[in-house]
Amino acid sequence: MNIILLGAPGAGKGTQGLSLAEKFRIPQISTGDILRANVRSRTQLGLKAKEFMDKGALVPDDIVVNMLVDRINADDAKAGCILDGFPRNINQAEVLEKTLASMGKSISTVIGIEVDRKELVRRLSGRRVCRQCGASYHVIFNPPLNIGRCDKCGSEIYQRDDDKEDTIEARLKVYESETFPLVDYYSRKGLYRAIDGKGSVDQITLTIVGAIEQGSDNSKVS
Ligand code: AP5
Ligand code: MG
Ligand code: ZN
Repeated sequence: MNIILLGAPGAGKGTQGLSLAEKFRIPQISTGDILRANVRSRTQLGLKAKEFMDKGALVPDDIVVNMLVDRINADDAKAGCILDGFPRNINQAEVLEKTLASMGKSISTVIGIEVDRKELVRRLSGRRVCRQCGASYHVIFNPPLNIGRCDKCGSEIYQRDDDKEDTIEARLKVYESETFPLVDYYSRKGLYRAIDGKGSVDQITLTIVGAIEQGSDNSKVS
């Protein structure tokens, strides 16, 4: 089972990925989380990636693709994975397809989490994230039980560097020009399922689970 979560910044890929990974017992692979871990530990890859992430731009494919291929080859991803934030352009989608094919695997379903722009900005500007486990909170919509601490692991929660107004705008533009074409790309392959990303987190999870279990036929699920 290899599921892609596609959606604009703030659509809820990280939030939903966490629940889906628990439900299907396969890892959530977030290229954004892997890059941020590299930035934090100041690896060479992290230092290079930071320049792009701070601007809201995509990190170059040669960096991200190798990182992703290593990750999907890991033992815990043998039964599949939930891809959160990859692929982000047509080239990445093509590489992914070839890599999976070489492992005798394929993409099961592409879940497109659809949320309007105003709501995306609202979500991103109030987001807080756990430093340790990556769980996402929102100061208004989804506050942690204890201010500043993660409900799941008790670690400190913080605001991401790229959740500042200017960078949010840049990320949304990059999504529209580089990532949105994947909706058409996967629709043509019959793999795309559109999900209404507004509503309660649990309700959206149920809808996505339904869509995954039904398989893919490009229809809208609500
Ligand atoms: P990445 O970390 O992937 O960020 P993103 O795509 O901008 O997406 P976000 O993580 O911001 O949003 P999300 O959809 O996960 O939303 P979340 O669940 O947190 O990438 C960061 C950067 O890394 C990129 O800009 C790029 O530079 C680089 N990068 C990463 N992958 C790359 C790749 N493949 N190629 C090249 N570069 C790459 O939710 C958002 C907020 O909304 C939270 O506060 C949450 O609590 C709240 N929320 C969630 N669901 C709901 C709901 N139903 N109702 C109300 N609030 C909700
Ligand atoms: Mg995320
Ligand atoms: Zn945590």
